[in-house]
Amino acid sequence: MAFTFNSPVKIVFGEGCADQVGQELVGLGAKKVLVVTGPGHRHEEQDHAGAAQAGHEGNGHEGAFETVVAALKKAGLEYVRFAGAGADPTPAMVEEGACVFKEARCDAILALGGGSPMDCAKAIGASMGEGRPFADFVGTGRVLAAPVPPLVAVPTTAGTGSEVSGTSVLTIEKDGHKMKLGTSGATLFPKAAFVDPLLHVSMPKALTAATGMDALTHAIECYVGRQHTPLADLYCIEAMRLIGLSLRRACQRGDNLEARGNMALAATCAGVALSNASLGMVHGFAHALGALCGMAHGTANAIMLPYVMAGCVDDAAERLALAGAALTGTSSIDAHASVAALFSLDHDIGIPRSLAEAGIPESMLKPIYEDAKNYKRRPMSPHLFTDEELWQVLYSAWSGTETT
Ligand SMILES: [Fe+2]
Repeated sequence: MAFTFNSPVKIVFGEGCADQVGQELVGLGAKKVLVVTGPGHRHEEQDHAGAAQAGHEGNGHEGAFETVVAALKKAGLEYVRFAGAGADPTPAMVEEGACVFKEARCDAILALGGGSPMDCAKAIGASMGEGRPFADFVGTGRVLAAPVPPLVAVPTTAGTGSEVSGTSVLTIEKDGHKMKLGTSGATLFPKAAFVDPLLHVSMPKALTAATGMDALTHAIECYVGRQHTPLADLYCIEAMRLIGLSLRRACQRGDNLEARGNMALAATCAGVALSNASLGMVHGFAHALGALCGMAHGTANAIMLPYVMAGCVDDAAERLALAGAALTGTSSIDAHASVAALFSLDHDIGIPRSLAEAGIPESMLKPIYEDAKNYKRRPMSPHLFTDEELWQVLYSAWSGTETT
C-alpha cells in the first residue's frame, strides 16, 4: 500500500469561532483585508471609524458578514468588501475581485460564504500572486506556484468543503459552450478555515438540504472511488455518520445547533477527503447540469447520487454497504439497501426525485451527456461506465426510474 495524505489547512471549529478570524489574519501579517462574498452590496470600503456593531444573530448572509467585519475591526484591520463572487463564479468575476484587491492595496483575503465565494477568493489570491489572469491556469495544466496573499475561509454553508481544499471550480465559456472546470494547486489551500455553526443557523431548508447532499456526495464518491486511501476513508466515514445523524434534523429545525454543528463538521471532513481521494461521475453530471442548466450544485448532486451509485453496485458492493451502514447507523445493510437509503434521504429533505421534476427539459439530456462523458475524473469511478451506460444513468435520473 502507498499513498499521500495532505491536509495543510488549520481548522478552527466551534460556535462563535468566527470572532477570532481577525486575530488569525493579524498573525498572518494582514493589515487590509479583501472580504470576498456573494452578491449583496456592491464592494465598499470602510475604515475603523465606520464600524458597525455586529453579533451572532445569524441575520442571513449579512449577519455573517457583520460578524466577520466586527472580528476584523476588533483586531485593528481595515477591509474592503468585494461582493461580486456570484453563484458559479467566472474568470471575469475573479479579475474584477483582483482589481479591487489591487486598487485598495489589500494584503490578505477573507472568503465568506458557500463554495462560490470561496472558490472565487482562492482564484483572486492566485491571480494576485502569479501576476496574471487566473484564466491562464484553468484547463491548461499550467502549474500554480507563486506565493499568494494569505487567505482565511469562513464557510456559511455546510457542503462544499472548499474551505479545506486546494481547488477552485470556475464556469468558463469555450467555443460558445459553458463548462465547469476545477483547477487545483498547492497555493490554493486557505491558510485557515473558521468553521462556525452559528453562521449556519439562518440557512433556509432547501439550501441546507442541497449543500448537505453535496457534502454527502463528496464523502461517498471519495469512499467508493478508485483513489480511496485509508486516511481519507476515516474522514469519509465520519462525514457519512454525521450526515446520517443530522441532515434531516438540520432541515427540520434550522436552529438545532447540535445538528448544525454535526453538518458543519461533516462538510469539512468530506472536504479534507476530497483533496486526498477522487470524485466520480455524480460530480461529472452535476458540473454539466450546473454549467448548462444553471442547476444548483448541491441539488444536482443530490438527484444524481442514488442513480449513479445504483450503477456502481456490482463494482463497489462492499464499500457501498459500509457507506450505507455509516449513513444509516445499521450494521447489516447491503449495497442495494444503501442506494435505497440515499433515495429515502433525498425524499425526506425535499430533493426532487428526478431531473424532470426539477425542471430539466428532455432536450437538455444530450448536451448534458456530451459534457459529462468527458469528465476528467470518469476513470476514478468504481464502475467504468461505458458511454451507453452513462446515457442510461442520465435517462433514469431524468425520468425518475427506480433502479434498485
Ligand atoms: Fe461538490
